Amino acid sequence: MARTITFCWGSALLFIYFVGFFLNSGEAAIKTYQFDVKVTNVSRLCHSKPIVTVNGMFPGPTVYAREGDTLVVNVTNHAKYNMSIHWHGLKQYRNGWADGPVYITQCPIMTGHSYTYNITITAQRGTLWWHAHIFWLRATVYGAIVIMPKEGAGFPFPQPYREANIVLGEWWNNDVEDVVKQGNKLGLPPNMSDAHTINGKPGPLFPCSEKHTYALEVEQGKTYLLRIINAALNDELFFAIAGHNLTVVEIDAVYTKPFTTQAILIAPGQTTNVLVQATQAPGRYFMAARPFMDAPVSVDNKTATAILQYKGIPNSVQPVLPQLPALNNTAFALNYDDKLRSLNTAQFPANVPLKVDRHLFYTIGLGINPCPTCLNGTQLTASLNNITFVMPKIGLLQAHFFNTKGVFTTDFPDRPPTSFNFTGAPLTANLGTKQGTRLSKIAFNSTVELVLQDTNLLTVESHPFHLHGYNFFIVGSGIGNFDPKKDPATFNLVDPPERNTVGVPTGGWTAIRFRADNPGVWFMHCHLELHTSWGLKTAFVVENGKDTDHSVMPPPKDLPPC
Ligand code: C2O
Repeated sequence: MARTITFCWGSALLFIYFVGFFLNSGEAAIKTYQFDVKVTNVSRLCHSKPIVTVNGMFPGPTVYAREGDTLVVNVTNHAKYNMSIHWHGLKQYRNGWADGPVYITQCPIMTGHSYTYNITITAQRGTLWWHAHIFWLRATVYGAIVIMPKEGAGFPFPQPYREANIVLGEWWNNDVEDVVKQGNKLGLPPNMSDAHTINGKPGPLFPCSEKHTYALEVEQGKTYLLRIINAALNDELFFAIAGHNLTVVEIDAVYTKPFTTQAILIAPGQTTNVLVQATQAPGRYFMAARPFMDAPVSVDNKTATAILQYKGIPNSVQPVLPQLPALNNTAFALNYDDKLRSLNTAQFPANVPLKVDRHLFYTIGLGINPCPTCLNGTQLTASLNNITFVMPKIGLLQAHFFNTKGVFTTDFPDRPPTSFNFTGAPLTANLGTKQGTRLSKIAFNSTVELVLQDTNLLTVESHPFHLHGYNFFIVGSGIGNFDPKKDPATFNLVDPPERNTVGVPTGGWTAIRFRADNPGVWFMHCHLELHTSWGLKTAFVVENGKDTDHSVMPPPKDLPPC
């Protein structure tokens, strides 16, 4: 569809659709939303506290759209915290200005100010989500994005009778920013959350939670589509429903070859759509989410529950819990990830780059740095290729667009400074982590293969890596050290899963490929907020193409000033 949108700036936004407006009216639409960021009192786990919300809702409002629509979301910040909202998984083609990560693509929306995110949804449909992208505020500021297929297009799987969003999160009894400050003072991880939640509610296994339990009513014999989102800050989660299998049909807004499983694994940032058939004996069944943690770090086995309730069954019926894989069930996790395959049909092809222009190899490391201001004299840190990312003071996209010098460098190394037995015995020695706002420059439309290699610096751990502005194909992964001679022969270049967030296995590696066809500055980071805040992040500068149609658009006039 040929369509041009012109932005005219005055007191209001004016959209003029030129070509195709009359032909396509009723198809592509403009959907407007007002997001008021404000502080709201919420009580959970016998504690009541003020939290930052959007429109007073926790979780925040669901954003609905159709493929091809333009979303116009005006965010007004009434809270005392600076704010920015990220539209996780939306590609924002040429328009990083609407992506949201603070100091990467914009400066924060300050108290009393507004910013309008203008997003055109191109060739994407499915479940994504939005969240605050500034410090740990996403703990309470998040919600679902549901993109329906184009009018009349339908799903490539049996049409469900109804659908529901299942947004998994975490809850702290104390103010999250205080919890983080406390951790930073000690140079240690902040206290872990007090509960996991399903649609903001912990469920009856937690105190004072009877009325804070989400229930989904189902009718016998019908099929339901669940859009499951992991909005937790620091935990990969298993999710299952007692007595009911789940058929996975989509991950990160990309259709998959359907497969049936007792439980799913979902990392922070990821989404998974499943079909559930209400064909069991009418009753009440727990849905449950509990962490997957196979690293020798702190243990968190708190289980959030919600209820799948057959119509007409009284609340007095006691639900049963599903069998969730054990907390450290690595075999289940690897086997589950192995089953994920792109649908790869003529209509929804998996366009895997077969030839690679640029090979990147990034090691993921944790470490301990001296910290004179920390109570213990040291602080935990994290790095990629031994570089701890330092947040700039102005948005990187702005610096890139206006060619402002001195904000970042483009010398992020393609490989780690030294090679070592990455996943051998634990290395407590600090390899001399360097700090810097160093980015990697990528030629427009080149194909990139990135191998993310976990290391045993301090400890191995699994890391869900998220790339902004793109989907990528997960062509391979394994345990131990990546072998550039042998491993590429095992890559799946036919129907690998396509996602925006991938869990790099504990003590292992993952290889991803993508075509750099979206110019701009794109953040890439571990989606465990703990690790992001320790510096486990970097960004790609994808250069412009030859003409303006393949170059970064000019910034909107209301881009928050730095
Ligand atoms: Cu969902 Cu940069 O994050």
